[in-house]
Amino acid sequence: MSLHPRAQAAAALRQIAYGLRESQALYVAAQLKVADHLVDRPLNAEELSNVTEVDAAALGRVMRALCSLDVFAESSTGKFSLNSTAELLRSDVPASYRNAVLFSVGEVRWRCWSDLLGTVRAGRGGAERTLGMSLFDFYAAHPEESRIHDQAMRATSAAQAAALVGAFDFSQAGVVIDVGGGTGELLAAVLAANSLLRGTLFDLPHVVAHAQSVFIDSGVTDRAQTVGGSFFESIPSGGNTYLMKTVIHDWDDARGTAILANCRRAMTAGSKLLIFERELPEIGAPGKTAEAFLLDLEMLVMTPGGRERTRSEFAGLLSDTQFKLVRVVPTSSPLSIFEADAV
Ligand SMILES: C[S@@+](CC[C@H](N)C(=O)[O-])C[C@H]1O[C@@H](n2cnc3c(N)ncnc32)[C@H](O)[C@@H]1O
Repeated sequence: MSLHPRAQAAAALRQIAYGLRESQALYVAAQLKVADHLVDRPLNAEELSNVTEVDAAALGRVMRALCSLDVFAESSTGKFSLNSTAELLRSDVPASYRNAVLFSVGEVRWRCWSDLLGTVRAGRGGAERTLGMSLFDFYAAHPEESRIHDQAMRATSAAQAAALVGAFDFSQAGVVIDVGGGTGELLAAVLAANSLLRGTLFDLPHVVAHAQSVFIDSGVTDRAQTVGGSFFESIPSGGNTYLMKTVIHDWDDARGTAILANCRRAMTAGSKLLIFERELPEIGAPGKTAEAFLLDLEMLVMTPGGRERTRSEFAGLLSDTQFKLVRVVPTSSPLSIFEADAV
């Protein structure tokens, strides 16, 4: 039976307004490492509460809610077990999503997001106001939060890597330099799929320090190296192909332009830049692009002036910095590949 239009409208608003329930339930399971405790055998709420040291009845209610969201599974005897979604919450699987949940719903972002109204009033700077400094300065000063952020990026990149590597022919990419490449998940995937390539991961020193395990897991240690530094100072030269995945969206136009200009300075004519970002539609409309607009809000709240961008906005930044946007390659992930030539 279809809902009355008014009830339908209320249900749509309720679904959006109550998003915090799903977020917080998932956060509890991730924080308590519930998935790790279910690896050996299914457990009921009492058993789970003994190992996680929380209230059994309350945890059971959280678990039931998550089962109803198809994150865990519950048997007819009340035992909770892992399903394929919950497997990714285990902390011991490669590119585990546990830290991505801790990052997405953890205290830092929760506090920053709770002041979206203040950010909208001010026009920018949610994280700066809440944390007292810009996000990347905050990470530099808080190693544990930085680790969670880097692992969250790793999990996200791992989930997207196959789609990105499959959408572009990297066989002639030569020396690949991943600028702001985090802990190296994308670079490792590109090298693993193309045995003739060599690569350099460039990011802040405290970030690239954690890349070795990614290179080892992907079997590319002999062809991958790291360089620590700031892309606002200089970017390593000598690459044939430069990658930038979800880097420019962290910054306002002035700083995005500064990064691109430094990248262009490192490149020679004939080398290529591949920007992996979402393409923001020109107009807001219901559908699968909601994620791009919501991520744009994430940038508004969390980053120093960052934003998602439309194709023409990327083309403008690129032409201002002596690049020519050649084409935009869609991928089966939410990201597109903006292919630009150094001119
Ligand atoms: C959104 S993350 C993307 C990481 C990676 N490209 C990925 O997609 O998984 C942005 C990256 O920019 C790096 N970053 C921020 N400021 C930087 C700077 N001044 N110089 C170099 N890297 C920087 C961060 O450390 C982080 O790894």
